[in-house]
Amino acid sequence: MKNKIDLLQDKIKQAQVGGGTARIESQHKKGKLTARERIHFLLDENSFEEIGMLVTHRSTDFGMEREKYPGDGVVTGYGNINGRLVYVFSQDFTVFGGSLSETHAEKICKIMDMAMKNGAPVIGLNDSGGARIQEGVVSLGGYADIFYRNVQASGVVPQLSAIMGPCAGGAVYSPAITDFILMVENTSYMFVTGPNVVKTVTHEEVSSEELGGASTHATKSGVTHFACVNELDAINHVKKLLSYMPQNCEETPSSLPYDFGNEMRPALNDIMPQNANQPYDVRSIIAETTDADSFLEVHAAYAENIVIGFARLAGRSIGVVANQPAYLAGVLDNHASTKAARFVRFCDCFNIPLLVFEDVPGFLPGTDQEWNGIITNGAKLLYAFSEATVPRITVITRKAYGGAYDVMNSKHIGADMNYAWPSAEIAVMGAKGAAEIIFKKEIATAVNPDEKWLEKEKLYSETFANPYRAAERGFVDEVIEPSETRNKLIKAFKMLENKVVNMPRKKHGNIPL
Ligand code: HXC
Repeated sequence: MKNKIDLLQDKIKQAQVGGGTARIESQHKKGKLTARERIHFLLDENSFEEIGMLVTHRSTDFGMEREKYPGDGVVTGYGNINGRLVYVFSQDFTVFGGSLSETHAEKICKIMDMAMKNGAPVIGLNDSGGARIQEGVVSLGGYADIFYRNVQASGVVPQLSAIMGPCAGGAVYSPAITDFILMVENTSYMFVTGPNVVKTVTHEEVSSEELGGASTHATKSGVTHFACVNELDAINHVKKLLSYMPQNCEETPSSLPYDFGNEMRPALNDIMPQNANQPYDVRSIIAETTDADSFLEVHAAYAENIVIGFARLAGRSIGVVANQPAYLAGVLDNHASTKAARFVRFCDCFNIPLLVFEDVPGFLPGTDQEWNGIITNGAKLLYAFSEATVPRITVITRKAYGGAYDVMNSKHIGADMNYAWPSAEIAVMGAKGAAEIIFKKEIATAVNPDEKWLEKEKLYSETFANPYRAAERGFVDEVIEPSETRNKLIKAFKMLENKVVNMPRKKHGNIPL
């Protein structure tokens, strides 16, 4: 038996060094951790159980039968994060550049299938040169097997993708289907075609970093939700993100213990500027309203005119969507609409209640917006809120103009509770523009048109620049002093915790993609 155990130990030792110590050193020199080190930092101590450590590839072309590494370039298994079960795959760049072979794909599929059956999140740590070039179509088939499972798992268990190295070609589509992407600055990149192909086809000269690095995707494309300063930062973000989520769509997120105290927040009474056109940072309202230091902003550097993220309210996990008056006056545009819509849908998939802070002057006008589909993109947000069955609460802090009033989780599209601050202005449009349209003739024929315009603007403003017309109709349930907001929200979300909505029977809806 001793000999047999020794043989087993030898095989385990061989698997643990992946592509060998020289390649591990080279990985470290690039400022990157190995696949196993990443798992070590991600999971609770001693909780990792590996599956498929001794799997090897089956390729026989190009002399591949002579080059086999146990594990075949990906470490897979399960373990715990803060005591919660998760399934993990971690690509090993030291073995054929972490490239995806038929068997490498099978290992990933195996843990995804287990995650689905057992209702636990899947975390992918990606570091791969893409399809195993020596294998051809079986590798492409392996990718498609993963994509298919990503889609089957979507909305069933949370799926998180941390990009820790290259992720190129069709390989990018697995992370893209998952719920959240995290990238590491300077050592990770994602693109469909790399700089060389770009140069050949479009004659553009661009570096990998500029084309598909973390900053690019965090600011320009919105592909990544987080740009992390290093790998440990990315791993910590994965853990934090997960803390707001349930294990699967049948569960609710776990709450943190919370001692109720004085939930009044007097500082909120002083946040709104005197002048309604003056910006303020909506994150200060979020910070005052939600539990201390609980807000985790998602997509912080992309479409900054809308702020989204997770927070806690009396220990319970919530998703926050807030117009940001400090950026483009909080206007809704193409990027802001799609950013928020996807987040709303994520929260709805996983039973995370939604809190909306509304201060929006409307949709952004212009050819750029129209030609890039603001109609379709705005409709995404409208659709996402309308179909969400989780508890939904809106607080109108200031402007709620035009179509944006309807879209931003209005009563009419199914919000459960709608509050307004006394500073709310709920109208078809701003007073200046409204006066110009409805008093056009009177202004044009006046002795002093400018004076007339001002007078009519004041009239429109006095009539509609308040929350009371909406409150009279019941479109706003209550006008509240800002300082009461947190208290009201805690009570209302508690009241809504057993909410049940039965949607019409259908195969699935057809969101305007
Ligand atoms: C097999 C690969 C590989 C691959 C890298 N390696 N990529 N082996 N298949 N796709 C191997 C290298 O031969 C090398 O082996 C080791 O991994 C490290 O690679 P290096 O090139 O030395 O590393 P580096 O300089 O850091 O460059 C990394 C890289 C580069 C940028 C990823 O290796 C590269 O461009 N690889 C090819 C990428 C690619 O074109 N992939 C196919 C994309 S198409 P040794 O033995 O020297 O350690 C695709 C389609 C998917 O993925 C479609 C899904 C639908």
